[in-house]
Amino acid sequence: MTADTERPVGQDQDVEAVLGQLTLEEKAALSIGGDIWHTAAVERLGIEPIMVSDGPHGLRAQFQTGDHVGLGDSVPATCYPTASALASSWNPDLVRRVGAAIGREALRWQVSVVLGPGVNMKRSPLCGRNFEYLSEDPWLAGELATAMVQGIQSQGVGASLKHFAVNNQETDRMRVSAEVDQRTLREIYLPAFERVIKVAEPWTVMCSYNKINRTYASQHHWLLTEVLREEWGYDGLVMSDWGAVHDRPAAVAAGLDLEMPPLIGHSDVAVVRAVRDGTLPESTLDETVRRVLRLVARSRPARQAEHAFDEDDHHRIAREAARQSAVLLKNSDGLLPVGSPGQRILVIGEFAREPRFQGAGSSQVNPTRIDIPLDELATLAGPDVTVDFVPGYSLEDAASDEGLRAEALTAAREADAVLAFLGLPASAESEGFDRTRLDLPDNQLALLDALQDHRDKVAVILANGSAVRTSTWQHQVSAILECWLSGQAAGGAVAELLLGRANPSGKLAETIPIRLQDNSSYLNFPGGDGIVRYGEGIFIGYRGYDRSEQEVSFPFGHGLSYTSFQISEPSAVVQGSVESGDLIVTITATVTNTGRRGGAEVVQAYVGDPLSIVPRPVRELKAFARVELQPGESADVAMTLDERAFAFWSERLNRWAVEAGEFVISVGSSSRDLAGSTSIMIDAPSVTGPIHRDSTMAEWLADPAAAAMLTADPRIDGALQAMDEPMRAMFGDMPASTVAGFGFLGFDLGALDDMISKLNNDVKETDV
Ligand code: BGC
Repeated sequence: MTADTERPVGQDQDVEAVLGQLTLEEKAALSIGGDIWHTAAVERLGIEPIMVSDGPHGLRAQFQTGDHVGLGDSVPATCYPTASALASSWNPDLVRRVGAAIGREALRWQVSVVLGPGVNMKRSPLCGRNFEYLSEDPWLAGELATAMVQGIQSQGVGASLKHFAVNNQETDRMRVSAEVDQRTLREIYLPAFERVIKVAEPWTVMCSYNKINRTYASQHHWLLTEVLREEWGYDGLVMSDWGAVHDRPAAVAAGLDLEMPPLIGHSDVAVVRAVRDGTLPESTLDETVRRVLRLVARSRPARQAEHAFDEDDHHRIAREAARQSAVLLKNSDGLLPVGSPGQRILVIGEFAREPRFQGAGSSQVNPTRIDIPLDELATLAGPDVTVDFVPGYSLEDAASDEGLRAEALTAAREADAVLAFLGLPASAESEGFDRTRLDLPDNQLALLDALQDHRDKVAVILANGSAVRTSTWQHQVSAILECWLSGQAAGGAVAELLLGRANPSGKLAETIPIRLQDNSSYLNFPGGDGIVRYGEGIFIGYRGYDRSEQEVSFPFGHGLSYTSFQISEPSAVVQGSVESGDLIVTITATVTNTGRRGGAEVVQAYVGDPLSIVPRPVRELKAFARVELQPGESADVAMTLDERAFAFWSERLNRWAVEAGEFVISVGSSSRDLAGSTSIMIDAPSVTGPIHRDSTMAEWLADPAAAAMLTADPRIDGALQAMDEPMRAMFGDMPASTVAGFGFLGFDLGALDDMISKLNNDVKETDV
């Protein structure tokens, strides 16, 4: 127990004392909630209910109607940029501030746990809920979610890290079995959770709806107990996603502490029955109740006071976050920023009047106010600049599109700059279903076609929760500013960016592919008949595009600025060792603002293992640093990597393993714009284990001692020397026992066993 979990629970009794006084029925009741948003109360012992509320980008506290799909009203709350936007800031400090602001709003309403952040990987750009998730990269997602949890919890409010785990699609999300191998789980789908658990210690974790390799996450003992608690040391509470429990006693046994919302009269009764008939040990139930009591206790201090928050201040935080979240994908001939005196700006697009700034479902916030981009632009541009508007396309009435296009074309001829606000309508993406295509709506594509003769002056401003295809039209425009779904203050932020009052600094947290078919999950997404096979393994996102050498529209990590930066060749220093468990590699590079405006660059460090016994990604993000620089200013950036940055998950050894040898460290401003790279050598114990009968000839020859022993015999050495390349390749793949059985190289099974025992004895002697 940590210090704050020892705080008294109700009537000044501690957790253990209260637990001792609870009846079996009361324990069962506490292991499920009291209602849709509250834990259960036990009045006679002074255990009060605590409230939980969504969600990742703002508070959705409901006091009138309760639902978890975004139907009913919720209290006004600041709507911050959604996760896909916030992640593009690559700025943990900013995310921490947003988290703290959400925490303050939770306190205002006496909400004790905020249901977020979501750290599921963006396996496919089609996932309807990608706007709630941070990245296709586990390191980036883990770093940013750590900051979010730290921010929320700095206020004395808990976070709920979700959805644990492997919930990467909405299709059949409540039943589908994600079929994923151990290495892929460990390297891609679990690390963001692991990082947040270990560094930020979230008060709660929310399990996902889906099955993982045929077992519901809510009943997954390996996931909820062996990995989460025993390996990662988690001591907080695990709650279910809303309606994710199918068998409450089995879920208790697996390590799921709180069922939400409660199936009162069903789940509690089943738990009591299971304890009475001996199929569920009462000590296991006690563990879950203990965690509920601790959660009530640790949330109490914050609830004992009244809190207020400053709406204006929070709107300003939302605006700053939106500013830093926008990614300038393209800016030919410096079209942006616009707004020089006398300029005529034409704004096209309904989204400029009716902005889309958040997604639908359980995360939907009731915003305290909404900045309208068109109004913000007109105000900020001032009297010397003309800002006109035409809708360009309709969000409701397809029949009017042709007329709107003609009107837009006429107006564009007269304008000096055209700002086209495009994006996905709300109907295209949401919690609860997946997208069916990557493209923008047809009427918007037709508008871009119509405007293409004016491409020199057209900038597109995008609002969408997940990557949209740009490859069919990006050559028809000069600039693209991807704003994602960037919260209630997006309108003001985008005006500042377009008019050059702020400088874009966002970087893509997800690749924008040329075609949907290029995405590595394409053949297996979203599966069918209750199963989705993660056939691409570890090669999701840029790991897939890089490995198969696909061109992409805009690579992971990409983002331009109104200024320019230069990043130097990196250098790397290795300290400690894998063997002693203290390996640290420090990478340094210098970044210089070589342009004429202040701005921010994100220096990204990628690691690759060019020669490995398992297929590995070409490069993987392992560190990054965001640096703000004035024109001409330089900064030295130092990033440290530990052993894990070089490791892969060995299915054979069932643990992380670092292979000795060369690693390439590249540093750049995107995953495909690398300023330079450096090689380091890392020494490490063998990960292939001692040589044995079934080691292949290639493995024998790669092991110095075994190779020396083989080649010491002139017959074997001679036979090996006589082989040409194809023959060598064929023999290289054969187990030594097979070679011995055939007698090909002049040694038999007896001689093989002699060599093996000599090798192993030698190893033992040197070990002693
Ligand atoms: C969602 C969760 C959410 C919960 C409560 C579920 O449908 O998957 O993310 O926190 O509802 O609203």
